[in-house]
Amino acid sequence: MAQPVLRLGTKFPNLPVKTTKGDFNVLEWKGKDSWMLFFSHPADFTPVCTTEIGTLAKINEEFSNRDVKLIGLSCDSVEDHNNWAKDIFAFADKKGGGCSLKELPFPLIGDQDRSVAKALGMIDASEPNSGSLPLTCRAVFIVGPDDLIKLFLYYPASTGRNFDELIRVTDSLLLTYNKKLATPADWKKGDKVMIPAGVSDEDAKKVDPNFEKVSVPSNKNYLRMANVK
Ligand code: BEZ
Repeated sequence: MAQPVLRLGTKFPNLPVKTTKGDFNVLEWKGKDSWMLFFSHPADFTPVCTTEIGTLAKINEEFSNRDVKLIGLSCDSVEDHNNWAKDIFAFADKKGGGCSLKELPFPLIGDQDRSVAKALGMIDASEPNSGSLPLTCRAVFIVGPDDLIKLFLYYPASTGRNFDELIRVTDSLLLTYNKKLATPADWKKGDKVMIPAGVSDEDAKKVDPNFEKVSVPSNKNYLRMANVK
């Protein structure tokens, strides 16, 4: 099955969607000032997906506090999503030390005909369902206020995602958006950042007057670390 090529830095398609919170075009729902984390999961009423959506429902505020809107998708119907939500909350309550949610705090898209999944290249050809149509992978797209794709990742059905990492990468994207900054390996909010190559020392001082140059055997001036608020 041919899938579209979506690249970092290209515009996220403004697709029409049917969801548990009504029908709309994705980018209009996102709005011009917000970020969006668009995720898919393979199927409702399945074990790993139940843990993932339960976790996201419980930490939704971590994203809304950062002005990131969550929206999910699977190849099931909106009605299935609504019925499944009760199981998600019951499981989260039993396993995660309490969950008082009565409805999902973000919309879930119903995509039985796979039209949205196909447009976003989220189909996992190795995961056919009982009707022999392939399911969606565990995809994540993070889209900026400028509607451009800032990050995507695809996980297989067998591996649930790590949502601490999604918060961490969101913090990096928010910090570096339209700025000449980069975050190093295993960076966490509050840690020092890197000044990318191509930024003059003069401009690096505007980021942090006390930025640190790390000397290395090559004597090349490319390892510069800075504190930012
Ligand atoms: C799961 O969520 O556990 C799952 C869903 C589809 C295929 C395999 C696993």
